[in-house]
Order: sequence, then structure tokens, then C-alpha cells
Amino acid sequence: MTHILGIESSCDETAAAVIIEGKTIASNVVASQIDLHAQYGGVFPEIASRAHAEAISAVVDQAMSEAGIDYDALDAIAVTRGPGLVGSLLVGINFAKGLALATDKPLLGINHLEGHVYSLWLTEEDEAPQFPLLVLIVSGGHTELLLMRDHGDYERLGGTTDDAAGEAFDKVGRLLNLPFPGGPNIERVASEGNAEAYTFPRAKTDGPFDFSFSGLKTAVMRETTVAPAADRRGTSDSQRKTAMLRSDVSVKDVAASFQHALVDALVDKTAKAAQAYDVSEILIAGGVSANTLLRETMRKATDLPLRYPPLNLCTDNAAMIAAAGHYRFIAGLRTPLDFDARPMWNLNSDTYSE
Ligand code: KG4
Ligand code: ZN
Repeated sequence: MTHILGIESSCDETAAAVIIEGKTIASNVVASQIDLHAQYGGVFPEIASRAHAEAISAVVDQAMSEAGIDYDALDAIAVTRGPGLVGSLLVGINFAKGLALATDKPLLGINHLEGHVYSLWLTEEDEAPQFPLLVLIVSGGHTELLLMRDHGDYERLGGTTDDAAGEAFDKVGRLLNLPFPGGPNIERVASEGNAEAYTFPRAKTDGPFDFSFSGLKTAVMRETTVAPAADRRGTSDSQRKTAMLRSDVSVKDVAASFQHALVDALVDKTAKAAQAYDVSEILIAGGVSANTLLRETMRKATDLPLRYPPLNLCTDNAAMIAAAGHYRFIAGLRTPLDFDARPMWNLNSDTYSE
């Protein structure tokens, strides 16, 4: 039974977890910085790295003590190598390197997106997902549709050509003067709104399995603001984003209609890809997979088994990093101690062997 310590610091969560055999959660500690960043309406990189540096040692200590094991009992240390904010990534990577040296344990550099994929393997009661499968990763930074034929075997079928799904939620949330992050807050107000009140466009895309959300965001802006934002001279960027909501706009209806349009696009392409590649299951992961409308709409669109993580594993955490680490560890892969951060790092079949 492997025991892997996972460490995650790519964005605004400092997290550490101990995972047994790639699926049993012995501990899972997440220190969120959301309150720190809320006042800026988004993640502020400098503040993020400082907060990671302040929190990481205590977070890792807590994960180890909650798991009730010594460093001796660990098989390896898995840490997020990228993609993400470089300053934030380096805090986790340098801490993990120091720990690996001090404890003489192997180190594994993990792709954050691969981590989101492996959040679906943290299921003690259920059988593990069956290959070949389709994974939709929908987070604040990424929207990716992947075909996975085996562990570490990823074929990218498509993804967003502009904004990520979570990013669209966050930008529209800001436009509607909702608190950060936009996703859960849009979902909350949308539950009381009419999703048919506004018809927002479903974007045309180049590839059959690509997504595009910036047109949707612009359409919401046109419907809800006094004048096209770009025409308003003499207003600061933050005023342009927050101060111009038209008084007759129903925030609930806009939120519901926007959510409906975005979810429809995600589900449409995912269902088509599942059919085209004849997969045995569909997996959804990442922060936006917490969205109830997305889960329900996907459920109705396919007869295939559908999995999404429990709510606490949808958003960033280190349990998923340790789970991905388990599969790398048993495949005999190790990352040399002098590895660098990869702020931009795609997930494809090369990723696994790097
Ligand atoms: O995976 P994650 O924690 O971080 C990244 O790796 O980016 O995802 C965060 C994103 C944010 O954009 C947030 O607005 C979105 O996930 N999100 C949601 C919901 N909960 C979080 N979007 C829609 N509905 C939700 N319930
Ligand atoms: Zn993430």
C-alpha cells in the first residue's frame, strides 16, 4: 500500500494531503486564500505567493499529523509542477524538494490538470473508472476535453480557444457585482432566475470539440451595461467592470441565462465527443464541475456512466495531486530533484513521461 504526500500551491489554495494506494484519503488539508483575494476581484499573484510561503509548513505538518504517520512511512512526495502562477508554484516545489532531501524520499512533479483528472480515482466505495474514457476538465484556468485510454495516456480532443469556463463565470460575476469567485455566486443567484429570459449566443468554434466563451461574456456585457464599456472614456478599469450595470437588469435572470448558455455548450461538445470516440465513461473535473446545472444537464444528455468529484475535490486540493502521484510512482517514474516549475504545461501523452 503506497503512502504519498501531495503538495499543491499553483493558484490560491495552499494544500497538502496523504493518500493511501491512490484512493484512500488519510488527510486532506486546504488553506484557501479566497478572502485575501476577494477585495481585488481575482487572484493577486504577489499576495498569493506570500500567503503560500506563510502557510505551507503548517499545512504540510497538519496533513502528516492528521494522517497519523511519520515521514518514514511515505513512499514518495508529489508536488504540483505546473501549470499555474510561477511564484506560487515555486513555493510548493522548493518546499517539496527540501523535504525530499531531508527525508530521502523520491519526488514526483505533477501536472495540475492531471491532478484534477485523478480526483475521480479518489473513490473508495466505487469501482475505479474504466478506460477508454472522456474527461472534461473545467476550472478557473482551463477547459479541456481529453480522451484517456490508460493511465498517463492522454489525447487532447479540444479545449477553449479563449476564456476558460471558470474564468467566464468569474468575469460575468464581476460584471454583475457578485462576490469573487463568480462560479458559486452565479449558481446561487441563478437558482432564483429565469434561464429563458435572455438568449445568449452559443459560439461557433474551429475544431468540433473546441469551446469559446469570450463572445458569451461580451454578449452579457452588452445586455447589462449602460453603454459598450470600451466607449466610456475617463472611467478606470475597475469602474468599467463594476459601476455600469443598468438599473433595469435582473441579475438573477442574467445569471441564470448565462449559466444555461455556458453549460449547454459544455454538455453539447462533451456528449458529441463521447459518441465519436465510443468511450465507456464520462468524467468531469475541476472547480466548475461543482456546478449542479452542469451535472444535471450532462446526466440527461448521455446514457453513459458519468462521474464527478465530491464537492471538496472539485476545487484545488492536494489529495488529487497525491492520487496522480501514486500512478506515476507505481509506473516507476521519478522527477530529478533539480526540476523546474512549468507555468504553462499542457496535458498530453508526453506529460506523463516528463
Ligand atoms: O479548479 P479550481 O479550484 O482552480 C483552478 O485550477 O482554476 O477552479 C476554480 C474555478 C473558479 O473559476 C470558480 O468560479 C469555479 O471554479 N467554480 C464554479 C463553481 N464552484 C467553483 N463554477 C461554477 N459553478 C460552481 N458551483
Ligand atoms: Zn485547479
